[in-house]
Amino acid sequence: MKHVNDKIINLNLHNDNDRVLNFSDFQKQTIQFDIDKLQDAYNQIVKIKKFEDAGVTNFGAISLTQIPGDPDSIKGNKARGVYWTKPDKSGKEVSRDVNIDESKYCEFIKDYENTYFKEVYDVLSSKYKLGRIRILIKEPRSTLSWHRDPEPRLHIPIITNPGCLMVIDNVAMHMPADGSVWVTNNTKYHNAFNGGEENRIHLVACVLDYKFN
Ligand SMILES: [Fe+2]
Repeated sequence: MKHVNDKIINLNLHNDNDRVLNFSDFQKQTIQFDIDKLQDAYNQIVKIKKFEDAGVTNFGAISLTQIPGDPDSIKGNKARGVYWTKPDKSGKEVSRDVNIDESKYCEFIKDYENTYFKEVYDVLSSKYKLGRIRILIKEPRSTLSWHRDPEPRLHIPIITNPGCLMVIDNVAMHMPADGSVWVTNNTKYHNAFNGGEENRIHLVACVLDYKFN
C-alpha cells in the first residue's frame, strides 16, 4: 500500500483501474455525540427492551422510531426491511423481505424518551430526512449477507472492536466508537462483520435525502 494524492493505492491488484481504493462510500459527518452518554443510553434501553432477531441469526434490532400510534410497524420483518442479495452460484440478484415506507417512521418511542437517544434523534432529524432508526446488534464472529439496501445508512458506533469492519464493494473500513457519525453508501453491495469476541452495537438510521456521487 502506498499513499498517492491522498488516495490509497493497492499495488497487489493486477488491473490498473482497480488500484485506487476509493473510500468515498464512507462519509464521516461533522456532527459529534458524547460516546459515554451513548453507551449509558444503550445500557438503559436494553433494560427495557429485548432485541428482535427478525429471523436472522447473529443479528438483532431495537427500533427507536415507529409509525405514529402503530407498534406493529417495528415488529418481525419490519425490524429488517427489503434488501437485494445474490445468494448462489448463478450470481442472480433476488429481493428479500418486505417493503417499508421509511418516511412514516417519525414517532420516537415513548419508553426511550428519557434517554440520550432522544437528544441524538432530535439533532439528527433536524439535519437529515430520516427513515427508521434502530439500535443494531452484531454478535461476535458473525457476518451479514452480501446485499444492497434501498437507501444510504447513518451509523453511530456505540460499542465496537478492531475486528468490526464494514465492506462496500471491495473497500473495507472500521468505524470507531468515539461519538462520530458516518453515512455509508448501502445502495451498493456491502456487508459488515464482527470478528471480535464481544457484541458490536451501532445506532443505524435510514437516510432518505443523502446523495452519493
Ligand atoms: Fe445493509
